[in-house]
Amino acid sequence: MDSNLEGQNSEAERAKALKDFDDTKAGVKGLVDAGITTLPPIFVIPDDHEFKVPTVDLQNTNKSIVGEIREACKSWGFFKVINHGIPQDVMDEMIEGVRRFYEQEQEEKVQFYSRDNTRKVRYTSNFDLYRSKFASWRDTLMCHMAPNPPEHDQYPSVFCWNGRDILKDYSEQLNKLGDTLFRLISQALGLVPNHLIDMECAKGNVFYCHYYPTCPEPAKTLGHAKHTDPDFLTILLQDQKIGGLQVLHQNQWIDIPPEKGTLVINVGDLLQLISNDKFRSVEHRVLANPTPSPRISVGYFFTTNFEKSDKKYGPIKELLTPESPALYRETTIADYIESFANAALGGAALAKLRLPAMEAKQKD
Ligand code: OGA
Ligand code: NI
Repeated sequence: MDSNLEGQNSEAERAKALKDFDDTKAGVKGLVDAGITTLPPIFVIPDDHEFKVPTVDLQNTNKSIVGEIREACKSWGFFKVINHGIPQDVMDEMIEGVRRFYEQEQEEKVQFYSRDNTRKVRYTSNFDLYRSKFASWRDTLMCHMAPNPPEHDQYPSVFCWNGRDILKDYSEQLNKLGDTLFRLISQALGLVPNHLIDMECAKGNVFYCHYYPTCPEPAKTLGHAKHTDPDFLTILLQDQKIGGLQVLHQNQWIDIPPEKGTLVINVGDLLQLISNDKFRSVEHRVLANPTPSPRISVGYFFTTNFEKSDKKYGPIKELLTPESPALYRETTIADYIESFANAALGGAALAKLRLPAMEAKQKD
């Protein structure tokens, strides 16, 4: 949202300013003719309806964390976490590794460029290049981490740096955090803490390392078109300085500004499915980068989409009652991913699984 909202006056001042303006009988053209260079406060959109994505302090030992997460997953599908235990230097190193990957010689990185979605490490520009209405101003490197990771030498060597294996270090940290989050989210659904982990929601991990270079005409395109994530949960490390991420909340695009050290968590389609709509996978997007520096972000997806498993996921039985029957049919993750890739990005794939009998009920 626009942060340039200073200068909102008291009710009385505002009333007077409105009257003064009206009395000029010269309209806004009169203001321009008088040579104003800044916007008078009466024209500035007030920020009292501005929404903010909730922040959860994971070191807050009082019991309210579960309640906060429940509320955030229900109403936003997004929340930020602070005091999550991941050292700042590990996050910084990860961002720097991604920067090195993109900024190395073209001959070095071209070997990773591929649209073959069975490759566990590859980079591409726009997964949906041939399917979307417009292409987004972004490149993405994808690294599959678990289960069954590729051989170590398949990963770009730029992530091994100063004696450190950054992809491994950061993903180990994220797995610990993922474990904590899935326990909290299970409880937020009223289930035993290990329920989602026992369902293997945390079994698979994929990194999506995005590079959003300076865009020559940022108002004409997007960095990442609106979409939902086709996973259980995403942990997003945003560029620590450059913003652009927005989430759709009550029909408005709300900024999630960068905040050093903070991670952004969002509910994916598969969690919406198994929670039977208790938690929501919400559309989000990234504006094209207008700044002179590249914007770098790293999404960590919890999903096993590489495993051709017959394991099916549907609404969790413990959450169903006669008043709250299953809203979706079951699917394997591989089938879901295929349907997601064929649909326009965004909730369409999930909608296809919705049980027809329930549609009318949902619309009320
Ligand atoms: C994603 C995503 C946002 C960002 O990877 O699905 O929404 O800030 N990324 O790059
Ligand atoms: Ni996303």
